[in-house]
Amino acid sequence: VEQTYIMIKPDGVQRGLVGEILSRFEKKGFKLTGLKLFQCPKELAEEHYKDLQSKPFFPKLIDYITSGPVVCMGWEGVGVVASARKLIGATNPLNAEPGTIRGDLAVQTGRNVVHGSDSPDNGKREIGLWFKEGELCAWTAVQEPWLVE
Ligand code: GTP
Ligand code: MG
Repeated sequence: VEQTYIMIKPDGVQRGLVGEILSRFEKKGFKLTGLKLFQCPKELAEEHYKDLQSKPFFPKLIDYITSGPVVCMGWEGVGVVASARKLIGATNPLNAEPGTIRGDLAVQTGRNVVHGSDSPDNGKREIGLWFKEGELCAWTAVQEPWLVE
């Protein structure tokens, strides 16, 4: 089954939005496979966002992500990668539809409260990057037959 890495960024934690954001994925029907509060070291932030290394905002992005604790989450489910991106909304919260996390809870690209993997391959890569083996749980949710036919 598909996996995605979702992360509540330091602004989401500071603004007390952890429960609100987590609950949107939970209510949708995805399965939580990993969860931790974590102060991200600079090297990990740089590795995670390495594709954006050449962008002018890269140093600011690394400062932002390492500015306080983040909440790291692994989520699993049918089509979870694309679906989570829809729940999150556009990168710039000003373009994010109401009803999405960024559309409802954020105002600026540089403070867009949450991250979601952009492909199934990156979902796997990022879960491997942010979690150690023993931190992830494979489990069966009783609701599964009521979510997927
Ligand atoms: P993530 O889920 O965090 O990866 O966001 P995304 O996939 O919607 O956007 P992208 O991967 O292109 O950019 C990663 C992150 O870099 C964004 O979520 C922003 O936090 C930040 N970012 C992107 N573009 C800008 C920009 O123009 N200015 C600033 N300050 N930050 C940016
Ligand atoms: Mg991205």
